[in-house]
This record gives sequence, C-alpha cells and structure tokens, in this order.
Amino acid sequence: MMTASIPWFAPAFENDEAEALAEVISSGYVNDGPKCREFEAVMAERLGVPHAAVVTSGTTAITLSLLAAGFRPGDEAIVPDFTFIATANAVTLAGGVVRFADIEPDRLLLDPTLLEQRLTPRTRAIVPVDVNGRGCDYGALEGFCRAHDLILVCDTAEGLGSSQNGQPLGTFGDAGCFSFSPNKFMTMGQGGLVVTRSQQIADRLREMKDQGRRVQGTGGDDNHPLIGYNFKLTDLQAAVGLRQLRSLDARLDRARQRDRWYRAALHGVNDLRLPARRDENEVCLWTDLLSDRAEEISAALKAADIGHRRFWHPVHSQGAYAGTEGAEGAFPVTESVSREGLWLPSTFDITEETVARTCDVIRVALR
Ligand SMILES: Cc1ncc(COP(=O)(O)O)c(C=O)c1O
Repeated sequence: MMTASIPWFAPAFENDEAEALAEVISSGYVNDGPKCREFEAVMAERLGVPHAAVVTSGTTAITLSLLAAGFRPGDEAIVPDFTFIATANAVTLAGGVVRFADIEPDRLLLDPTLLEQRLTPRTRAIVPVDVNGRGCDYGALEGFCRAHDLILVCDTAEGLGSSQNGQPLGTFGDAGCFSFSPNKFMTMGQGGLVVTRSQQIADRLREMKDQGRRVQGTGGDDNHPLIGYNFKLTDLQAAVGLRQLRSLDARLDRARQRDRWYRAALHGVNDLRLPARRDENEVCLWTDLLSDRAEEISAALKAADIGHRRFWHPVHSQGAYAGTEGAEGAFPVTESVSREGLWLPSTFDITEETVARTCDVIRVALR
C-alpha cells in the first residue's frame, strides 16, 4: 500500500509488544487464556463495569451482544445510516433485519427524535453508534428503550476513552462493544470487547463465543448444552492489548491536543464547519470537517500528498443493503454529511507544524 507523506492514520507500537508476544509464545499457551482474562479484568476496572469479554472483533462483539440479550432471527434493529457498514452487518449476522434511521447534523449521531417513526411491531433492538468518539444521547436512548422494551447495544468501536456526564462510553444500555482494529486508539491487529452490567448477558455471551460450552474441561469430553461459535480472541492479541493500554491515556491527550490545533488553525475559514465536540471528556479519534466543497479539499490534499479519508457512504446506499430501505432522500442528513465530510491526518505523533501545513492546503483550496 502507498503511504502519503503525511499519513491519515497509523497504528502505533510503543511498549515492546514484540516482547509480550514472545512471552506468550514461550509459555506454550496461545489460545483464549490468562492474558485474555487479565485484559478483560483491566478493561472492566477501567470502565467501571462488572463484566468484560474479549471476542474476535467489534463486529462479532455487536452480533454476540444482540444474541446474548435475546435478539432473535427475524427481529428488527434500528441502526444509524451514518456508520461503518460493520454495525449493519453485525445485525444481519445475528439473523436480524436492519432498519436505518437518520442522524442529527451537529454531532453526526443517531437522532433520537426520529426513532418513533422507525418503530415497527418487529423492532427488538437499537444499535446506536458513538461515531468518532462522540457520545450518543444516552438519556434519550435509554428512556426510549425502556419505554418500548427494546435491547440497547451500543457500538462504541470508536469511543474508547470518551465519557458522558462522568460515565464512560460503552457502559450505557445493555452492552457496549469496542473494536481494536488498526485505526483505533489501541490495537491488537484485530479484536473486540463487550462490556455489560448483566451477569446473564455475560454468561450467555461467553458460551456463544466458545461453541456453546459453559465450562472448559479437557477439550475432548466437554459438554455443549447450547449452539455456539468460535469468536475467541487469543492470548497473543490480549498480550499486545495489555501493552497498548499503557499508551492509551497519552494517546487520548495527544488526540485532544491535535483537535485543538486543527480548531485553532481552521478558525474563521469560510465554507467549512467542524462537527461539535461536547467537552474535553469526548475525544475524537480522528479530526473531522464538513464542507460542501469537500471534493475540492480532498483533491488539494491528494495533490499535496496529504492522507485523509472521505466519510462513509450512507449504509442504505451500499449494494449490500440495496432494496432494504428504498428511495434516495430517505435519510437526508446522512446523505449530505456523507458527501461533505472528511477525516484529516490524525496520527498520534502528528505535530503542530503538520497540522498547520494541512490547514494551509485547505485554506488555499477554499480561497
Ligand atoms: C463504527 C464502527 N462500528 C463497528 C466497527 C467494527 O469493528 P471491527 O472492525 O473490529 O469488526 C468499526 C471498526 O472497524 C467501526 O468503526
């Protein structure tokens, strides 16, 4: 893969992860074992929840959370149209039917005022997404789910480290789902985590991720009372995750700083806006901007060899979901945001100078 001279994002390894891997390899046990349990315990403590379970990815975290909370094949789940397609795919993988809903324009998150009109008698769950570390309106969402007896599984794949009114993202609703894929605050190559306050969800999820087995015996003569899958993480990955955790707080601080630099450097520039961030407890993984001249900005950044990412297409417009939600114009905010948005260079080691150079290119493009 070609790398731009200023990269959009890159995973960072700062704490001798190779040494941690070597330790696990020489232990002779590389499956889901003591390192996974240690990682779960540290994350549960950090997030202030009683249960945490590692799984293969953020996608399987959402699928298993839904199933463990009682979601059944044929049930419907409301999902924001503006998200990475994994959120919708996780619902589909659980045997569910996706009902898209539009977002609100300032924070780019599921709009709770639109939920009522998306409800049907088959609605069983809502999967809101904390896009780019911004927290959804959990006061409204939890109230709505209680009133309509719905499961609330939060896709907080991008929300590690952010909190709302003192409560970490991922700890709202029935379960929260994190991702450790390479473009997150910490990575183990691939990996996911479910956190929950429900003993029942945690127990059921642990069975489902391991072939329906409640207790691991010799592996040969184990009992499997339920149907399950193999969505287990490995100690190799968990060992890397434990080392990555040592950098998490510093990375969150650097991301806050990066955002401040961009906001200062782009202050007063016409024809663009920066989506709202509530406060310093909400940390954006990548700095984002919106402009109806996004095409021109993207071309100028490309010409200057500055890495960036355009926003996702509305999920309902993807071939995979074609026909599920009908006409163009159904989700107007997502459609315009998708056209207007891009994520700017956001590596953990970005300097103020690089931010300034990127913003100069943007300013010239908009002149
Ligand atoms: C918003 C969102 N949801 C879900 C996922 C899926 O996570 P994973 O790639 O670990 O399956 C991701 C990340 O890739 C994501 O950004």
